[in-house]
Amino acid sequence: MKEIILKKFEEVFGDTNGTKAYFAPGRVNMIGEHTDYNGGHVFPCALTIGTYAVARKRNDNRLRFYSMNFEHLGIMESSIENLNPEKEADWTNYPKGVMWAFEQKGYEIPYGMDLLLNGNIPNGSGLSSSASVEVLTGFILRDFYGFDVTNQDLALIGQYAENNFNGVNCGIMDQFAIAMGKESHAIFLDTSDLSFEYAPIKLENAKIVIACSNKKRGLGDSKYNERRNECETALAEIQNAVGINGLGDLTEEQFELYKSMIKDEVRVKRAKHAVYENQRTIKAVEALKKNDVELFGKLMNESHVSLRDDYEVTGIELDTLAEEAWKVDGCIGSRMTGAGFGGCTVSIVKTDAIDGFIEAVGTAYQEKIGYAADFYVVDIGDGPSVL
Ligand code: GLA
Repeated sequence: MKEIILKKFEEVFGDTNGTKAYFAPGRVNMIGEHTDYNGGHVFPCALTIGTYAVARKRNDNRLRFYSMNFEHLGIMESSIENLNPEKEADWTNYPKGVMWAFEQKGYEIPYGMDLLLNGNIPNGSGLSSSASVEVLTGFILRDFYGFDVTNQDLALIGQYAENNFNGVNCGIMDQFAIAMGKESHAIFLDTSDLSFEYAPIKLENAKIVIACSNKKRGLGDSKYNERRNECETALAEIQNAVGINGLGDLTEEQFELYKSMIKDEVRVKRAKHAVYENQRTIKAVEALKKNDVELFGKLMNESHVSLRDDYEVTGIELDTLAEEAWKVDGCIGSRMTGAGFGGCTVSIVKTDAIDGFIEAVGTAYQEKIGYAADFYVVDIGDGPSVL
């Protein structure tokens, strides 16, 4: 890959003098969905697929961007003097947002850069290609200018950019998983205080299979913000009865006790998901520590049902992928992953059942939905690196 991107850089920007190559992963969340903005737990891992970059510091203010995933856009130009989100700026709003965020936090970026990207995360798949670009940009800026920031800070800066420059009110999970990724481990993160623990994923005779629905996300971002608002309102209602900081502070029993404070049926369902999913995530990690992959899989299935019925972020495409997966012998667990409304499912499948799984789920999906899903057998990788 390094040779391919360097060659392209030369073709696009003239030469490769003074360049460096970098990588940042994508992520998949195993369980703990829509809990990260409710002060709950998540359990994501970084992948070995991600975003590759060649970058070069300039000696003026110009920014020149080129993506091998959007070649039709050509070289996109702008300046570090003028960092505003613009529709025409397309994907470059992600690196620009991170530069803006660094400046907001008091780090001066003295020069522009030439930046070429090439990602092998399927676009719009919900495997966090945008968070990958954000963490990657922060990682490059730190490398260029020696900013005194940790990888965890890079995650927070990426999230700040996503929230305040790109207008998606996301939680910390994606950027954290990418910045802090560790090979063969998932990250058990408590989003209420960012304490975390690496948990080894030892699946012995099974693998992680991602099925991409190929459904365009469309209204996803506005629905995402809507869910977040529903949870915030439900929390405020419960806070009239009990002093909690987030829905993640409640056990199932406490939720059942206080849920009558929530004055709307839909909001009760949303809050129920947030509370139960958080507890499910804690139980799932305990199960994994005891090597009980079967129980982990069962909790993944329950997570999907809750996202389907209570949180209502699945849709027929993700439901078909998960429900068909559950029918396959050798599928230990399957659920939607990420924000939902399109994107992917994540499944744990016995190694000798993977071919049959892809065949069965793929055929049923094509028949019901009318177009194909894509399947990826993935490995858990490290966080960002210099290549
Ligand atoms: C998106 C957001 C994350 C998280 C998930 C849902 O990926 O970026 O912060 O909320 O959705 O779990």
